[in-house]
Amino acid sequence: MQKTLLIIKPDSVSAKNSGKIIDFIENEGFTIKSMKLKTLSSDEAGEFYAEHMGKHFYDNLKEFMTSGPCIPIILERDEAILHLREVIGATDPAKAAQGTIRNLYGEGGTRNAVHGSDSPESAQRECSFFFPNEV
Ligand code: CMP
Repeated sequence: MQKTLLIIKPDSVSAKNSGKIIDFIENEGFTIKSMKLKTLSSDEAGEFYAEHMGKHFYDNLKEFMTSGPCIPIILERDEAILHLREVIGATDPAKAAQGTIRNLYGEGGTRNAVHGSDSPESAQRECSFFFPNEV
């Protein structure tokens, strides 16, 4: 069993797509281990996405991620990191495969519905970022 972090981003929460995304994820065999509603501060969003500092979309990304509450969720499954990336789809919803979460619910390159950890190191860091006492 492996753990990974999913964030239901502010666009999905405000569009009331959270329930549909959680239903989708549970149908893919993931178990919810921790979950909360959280509004990020600008400093927190900057820290979470520090690897993207300096990129052209960084300021927009911070503004978007602080625009309303998001829902970080620790998920567990076998091959959780890889499988979550597959069912989320490509970063740009226009390029995401049919039936993936970003294809179904994403609006654009930044407002792309969800985030999923991309490696074991990221999963560890990102789960600890939102749930420091639980991992
Ligand atoms: P996420 O998987 O959360 O990781 C970094 C985020 O930056 C990404 O999803 C998008 O929200 C955003 N992002 C990545 N690439 C671009 C891009 N080319 N243009 C705009 N936003 C981007």
